[in-house]
Amino acid sequence: MAMTDDLLRWRSEFPIVETCTYLVSHSLGAMPRRTATYLQEFADTWSGRGVRAWYEGWWDIGRETGNILAPILGVAPNTISMHQNVTVAQGIVASCFTFDGPRNRIVMSDLEFPSNHYLFEGFRRYGAEIVYVPSSDPVRLDLQRFLDAIDEHTVLVPLSFVLFKSAFVTDVRAVIEKAHAVGAHVVVDAYQGAGTVPMDLAGWEADFAVGGSVKWLCGGPGAGYLYVRPEIAERVRPALVGWAAHESPFEFATGPVRPAGNPERFQSGTPNVPSLYSARAGYEIVAEIGVEPIRRRSLALTRRIIDQAQAAGYRLNTPLDDRERGGSVILDVPNAKDVADELIRRDVIIDYRPGAGIRMAPHFYNTEAEIDHAMKMLREIVAC
Ligand SMILES: Cc1ncc(COP(=O)(O)O)c(C=O)c1O
Repeated sequence: MAMTDDLLRWRSEFPIVETCTYLVSHSLGAMPRRTATYLQEFADTWSGRGVRAWYEGWWDIGRETGNILAPILGVAPNTISMHQNVTVAQGIVASCFTFDGPRNRIVMSDLEFPSNHYLFEGFRRYGAEIVYVPSSDPVRLDLQRFLDAIDEHTVLVPLSFVLFKSAFVTDVRAVIEKAHAVGAHVVVDAYQGAGTVPMDLAGWEADFAVGGSVKWLCGGPGAGYLYVRPEIAERVRPALVGWAAHESPFEFATGPVRPAGNPERFQSGTPNVPSLYSARAGYEIVAEIGVEPIRRRSLALTRRIIDQAQAAGYRLNTPLDDRERGGSVILDVPNAKDVADELIRRDVIIDYRPGAGIRMAPHFYNTEAEIDHAMKMLREIVAC
């Protein structure tokens, strides 16, 4: 299997996989070896160059990091700004809109990641009406119901591309089409897809996309991203901006901001430099491998988990159809929380989510033998 061998070539770049069975890349992707080199480079630059580092690369590091990420998301270069996390990026998007007129609805699924709810809930104070679309099935977005909720009163539709609790891949294209037909904007939360499921956010005409680097991108914490479609980037005016969003920041002009072009106009203040050094390592590797080969490998490994889970009679809270499934498998067993704790004690690193079960997430550095080992441990613990 040339392809498998090819991807496993990357294993030696991820030290942790030699110490445990690491199946948790939907939560915290393994750290690449070169991350330490880049972080050392950051320290050496700060130590050796001091303030000169700003004009020797640090000031542009957000744009350059976003450009490594761009092909992974399927967007053009110079369309991504870097922020601390998804919430900050969503806050900047929300600050581009007003909510005091008749178009004031924010339509979201009840299956969204909680912080997406928390952030937009806060905009009620500015007149936003929050519409939660319930799903009768906890695994799947109820697409028709969701589309029906989007109307000419809708201003924003935040939607995860891959749902965090079930790994269901949502039909963002259909949602974008409906939203655009009624004049609404879509914010795709790409977090659970980026780096494991191919995306064509530009081709899909997503207005905004947000995400972070902790998971499948193996980029570590502190490197959230915000994509804005070039066609609307110059039209919208974020309220949540800082001096880095000014077209000429070193003029230190006071009063209203004179916005820079895309992507800096969505910037806040001083860039999160060390996090961007660390994110670069994971982005480079994912971009070099390409998301398509990662996806093929991921589907083979998640299928292997599913086959063994079904043979053991476990409940699967994740789509069985490859086209509907992201990079994780969520399976439920009696006392799943205790079982998850025991798996971790045995160095099989997975996680547990209430109401869903045990989440397992193989990435391109995992082997079939690791899946078999994890499933054997699971069967042993469940049988106890
Ligand atoms: C789909 C999704 N969105 C958002 C988040 C939270 O992102 P952040 O901590 O960067 O705000 C997560 C974290 O697990 C997630 O899975």
